[in-house]
Amino acid sequence: MSENKKFYITTPIYYPSDKLHIGHTYCTVATDAMARYKRLQGYDVMFLTGTDEHGQKIEDKAKEAGVDPKTFVDRIVDGPQGVKDLWKLMNISNDRFIRTTDDYHVSAIQKIFKAMYDKGDIYKGKYVGKYCKPCESFWTESQLVDGKCPDCGREVQDAEEEAYFFRLSKYADRIQDLLENTDFLEPRSRVNEMVNNFIKPGLEDLCVSRTSFKWGIPVDFDPGHVVYVWIDALFNYTTALGFMNDQYDDYDKFWPADVHFIGKEIVRFHSIIWPAMLMSMDMPLPKKVFGHGWLLLDGGKMSKSKGNVVDPYLLAQRYGVDALRYFLLREFPFGTDGNFSNETLISRINTDLANDLGNLVSRTTAMVGKYFGPNLPACPDADPAQDDELMGLAKGLRDAYETQMEGYAFQNALMEVFKLIGRANKYIDENKPWLLAKDEAQKGRLVRVLYNLLECVRISAVLLTPFMPQTCQSIFEQIGAGAELQSWDSAGQWGLLPVDAPVAKGAGLFPRIDVAKELEELAALEEAAKAAAAPEEEKEPEYITIDDFNKVHFVTAKILACEAVKKSKKLLRFTLDCGEGKPRQILSGIHEYYEPEELVGKTVVACTNLAPRKMMGLESNGMLISAVKEESDGTEKLHLIMLDDKVPAGYGLC
Ligand code: ME8
Ligand code: MG
Repeated sequence: MSENKKFYITTPIYYPSDKLHIGHTYCTVATDAMARYKRLQGYDVMFLTGTDEHGQKIEDKAKEAGVDPKTFVDRIVDGPQGVKDLWKLMNISNDRFIRTTDDYHVSAIQKIFKAMYDKGDIYKGKYVGKYCKPCESFWTESQLVDGKCPDCGREVQDAEEEAYFFRLSKYADRIQDLLENTDFLEPRSRVNEMVNNFIKPGLEDLCVSRTSFKWGIPVDFDPGHVVYVWIDALFNYTTALGFMNDQYDDYDKFWPADVHFIGKEIVRFHSIIWPAMLMSMDMPLPKKVFGHGWLLLDGGKMSKSKGNVVDPYLLAQRYGVDALRYFLLREFPFGTDGNFSNETLISRINTDLANDLGNLVSRTTAMVGKYFGPNLPACPDADPAQDDELMGLAKGLRDAYETQMEGYAFQNALMEVFKLIGRANKYIDENKPWLLAKDEAQKGRLVRVLYNLLECVRISAVLLTPFMPQTCQSIFEQIGAGAELQSWDSAGQWGLLPVDAPVAKGAGLFPRIDVAKELEELAALEEAAKAAAAPEEEKEPEYITIDDFNKVHFVTAKILACEAVKKSKKLLRFTLDCGEGKPRQILSGIHEYYEPEELVGKTVVACTNLAPRKMMGLESNGMLISAVKEESDGTEKLHLIMLDDKVPAGYGLC
């Protein structure tokens, strides 16, 4: 491997404050595709990801959960369906995973803080301003938008305390120059926003320590202060290589990073604060910061609370990891926001993966098997008239793809590959191998057609490998392409597959999804999840107190007389002995269940303090208690509660 072919790429380190959703997965999948692409090209790659575990937000969450912060983050990082599990599921090939609670990182941050202090770039002062807790960001009054956090729009709180400051103002000119006159920050559209909103109004010094909470890296020379979480977080990109620690020894080899992939809301930290601190430390700057867009849900910000349709576990289980990886990078241009929906996900899988790619592979391998067995015979020359367009596209594909990948335009790179896949499917329709197979004289042509298709499949699969590693491995097996035919070099060359490569049709790569049925099932899952997650108070029965209960008077009653109420189908008129010294009249609508004669002499239960009411001109003074059940067909079953006749009248029930 040549000395200069090194590539260092990072994801943001994630806050382990909640389960991650598909939006978080987006950036890590993109970084993984880029890392795999560079490895394919022969680069010595360092791919770093990890978790950002300090700060007030985590401290608060842990308190809510009733555990100490370290226990809390351990669960989300290492626990079942935690961050590490998720990256394993998504087939993420990170070389390293940093946790900012790792000892080597903690002591390195203390040394870095001290170094900037000794240099005079960190000094002690008093902080008066506003603080956005969810973003862990300090703001001055003038930076607020409508009095709210300019990043997330939420309420900010007053903050005043003794604190350390970083001389960000000192680096303002150099940062502006970096942003405006180099390609440091991409997409370029984000440059104006940074310069106009943050640099031109005047960069103020940044508060870089806190005393109001404990969960952070202590400033070792001033106990009581903890290091601002963003200093702690940003330097992860260097401590994970061994900067200011002995855990690793890769700093000289891999720093500066080739690119930091990050979401757009943290561009300010990465393109202003991060380079300024590196300047202060006299360290080289990363070559590039790329701020990608957000995946939105119904046009708004995604969050786990919006439902389980954004749960990567659920999505991967239903559609497969590769389909999900492909969708994320094919559907949305990397630099801008995109709207996530299950419909687009399913239709992308059906169209591109099941129809286009899946069909090409299965038709090609099936026809080789059917017409020739596992190996093609010797292959005649290509027919320029019929094959040039297809072969030209295939031969030019690697370069076209590379151009797009170098610009992080994953969507375009994938579209280039699918142009060839689409062309190859059309080539099948044009050449009609099933007709060629019927004519012995056309056998040579049939071999050439199938061989060309196998080569198109092979080249496409090499270039799709960074996106869908497992699927491409299965394709290589089906077309009998060994390791040397899966290389970057081989993707740039036509005609490498030996004619005796053992071709064997495998299981279908992507089953077609029944859209209507699938959406229905998702909706049902969503409902079930919502019901399970309904707030506790909704599920709790509405309790009454014992005093409420005691308000109702139930007494035993003997039926002295009973007769049907004239002109009423339902009502019976009861004359009851309730032990009150005089009879009580109660009307009850139970004629469809009982004939009056059969009830006389029975012992029943009456509620006697129900307000009197008139029915069919007669007064009812209470209610007879029945056992009632509504059947599924809407009819009712009813049994008057009857007691043993030995029970006397006028006893209270309790
Ligand atoms: O910001 N679409 O961590 P984080 C696309 N700890 N990307 C999304 C997204 C969505 N819906 N939701 C989140 C932090 N992300 C810091 C980083 S780096 C030194 C410290 C992305 O867990 C988001 O844009 O809040 C960010 O890049 C990443 O997930 C981590 O977010
Ligand atoms: Mg965030």
